Amino acid sequence: MGFVRGGFVLFILLCSFEMSIGSGKTRHFKWDVEYMFWSPDCKENVVMGINGEFPGPTIRAKAGDTISVVVSNKLHTEGVVIHWHGIRQMGTPWADGTASISQCAINPGETFDYRFVVDKPGTYFYHGHFGMQRSAGLYGSLIVDVADGDQREPFHYDGEFNMLLSDWWHQSVHHQEVGLSSKPFRWIGEPQTLLINGRGQFNCSLAAHFSNTSSPNQCNLRGTEQCAPQILRVLPNKTYRLRIASTTALASLNLAVGGHKMVVVEADGNYVQPFQVEDIDIYSGESYSVLIRTNQEASKNYWILIGVRGRRPQTPQALTLLNYAPTSASKIPLSPPPITPTWNDYDHSKSFSNKILALMGSRKPPRNHDRRIILLNTQNLIDGFIKWSINNISLHLPSTPYLGSIKYSLKTAFDNKSPPENFATDYDVMKPPVNPNTTTGNGVYMLPLNTTVDVILQNANALAANVSEIHPWHLHGHDFWVLGYGEGKFTKEDEKKFNLKNPPLRNTAVIFPYGWTALRFVTDNPGVWAFHCHIEPHLHMGMGVIFAEGVQHVNGIPNQALACGLTGNRFMKTTQN
Ligand code: C2O
Ligand code: CU
Repeated sequence: MGFVRGGFVLFILLCSFEMSIGSGKTRHFKWDVEYMFWSPDCKENVVMGINGEFPGPTIRAKAGDTISVVVSNKLHTEGVVIHWHGIRQMGTPWADGTASISQCAINPGETFDYRFVVDKPGTYFYHGHFGMQRSAGLYGSLIVDVADGDQREPFHYDGEFNMLLSDWWHQSVHHQEVGLSSKPFRWIGEPQTLLINGRGQFNCSLAAHFSNTSSPNQCNLRGTEQCAPQILRVLPNKTYRLRIASTTALASLNLAVGGHKMVVVEADGNYVQPFQVEDIDIYSGESYSVLIRTNQEASKNYWILIGVRGRRPQTPQALTLLNYAPTSASKIPLSPPPITPTWNDYDHSKSFSNKILALMGSRKPPRNHDRRIILLNTQNLIDGFIKWSINNISLHLPSTPYLGSIKYSLKTAFDNKSPPENFATDYDVMKPPVNPNTTTGNGVYMLPLNTTVDVILQNANALAANVSEIHPWHLHGHDFWVLGYGEGKFTKEDEKKFNLKNPPLRNTAVIFPYGWTALRFVTDNPGVWAFHCHIEPHLHMGMGVIFAEGVQHVNGIPNQALACGLTGNRFMKTTQN
């Protein structure tokens, strides 16, 4: 019989409550980043690990703490950086961990000291931000609890679990990257496996264990494997917080817990007005906290599953179990796992997105904008290479990181012409581009401090007719208010529909096929900030822009962040003098 009857070892994720530690303390970490053999989906492969772990270690801190992570690059042949996704880096823009933007990549054998304050409680994560290292498995969780003595969370829970979601390919990222940059283009295809906390099953199904007939698809797990699912063990009649974050390279996901409803309470480190759903959609770059009440029959266990949305799925659902103590974890859920909503049921996705509103009493956006930037997302051809472009420019990062080159006015480091803030009024977003040829560039949107900026993300038809994809856009250095979503081409009239009353604050927002999404933020954080599609191959194909705000106010960029390109030359000279 299956692994369950063979005595499945319980992997208990339940966090013990932390001992009280003084707030505002500095938490030190020393990390070695390296390639290692690992079997995320039971098939051995090479992953990027940290200190021998995959996913990397979870950072747990309290609001107001300083995090110090000394990252040491043990990769031998390539640079590395780590980005702290959702942390605004107020006053420490050089610690944002974006190669070519906030810092020089850390060379093999070298170290970089990331030091920054986590100022807001919430569910965050970190990941590589150089080449396609996130796809290679360089990621982990970052959880910030409320500070001691501070007001408590605006909801109660008895225990919590952390679920970091990702997708996995058997082909190496080097192979993937060469395909994306080749002519003819080679797409990476759909992932082989979905992972929950870095664990999934390729070519076998956990659910197969739970049918009475013996199935060839059974996984032969004993529970000690690197790919064995972590089971969520709960007590009856309690409330649990599930912290769910997605760092997928490509997949949009849907998560459900069989037999249980979920109450959404947090999105991207901001509280939302609680609402109840059967399942949640989560896009790459997003995080949520949901509460579940263990009020179902305690003699049974229940499925927790994720499945693909937004692209025709070729990847099986990933599963784990909600196990009610003292029921044995080997007990079969009586019903099959819930069915993930159809991949192209966008009404379902939109209805979920529209339910997300700021918690009553949250800070409201300024009523008016000072500047409006409209960004048209198109798929294009450049000399026959397939790229993504924003207002006809496909982002190609410079060799000197912007933070240093802007601070020291090194004018030759990047395109000085500022990129367009709109697109041709006659562009038909419902059709493939008439002239798909665009250019690559690395210009910067220069934003003065303390201005209110609206960004309208405009989706369009891709190169093939009748195709428009989902793109989750992520902003560094800020949260933005999501003022609304709409269909077709954005017009001035649509402004009337903006939600200025209770728009949610987030750091990632999706654009739906053929639609637009309106965002607003205030430039209150000097630095250079990437704003890009969080789908790794799309970013790699140029789907992003750069915002710089008040860089002259940035002081104290560590030399380590500047030691390459033109800033490197300058730095070398001054230290020799
Ligand atoms: Cu999580 Cu620039 O990304
Ligand atoms: Cu995209």
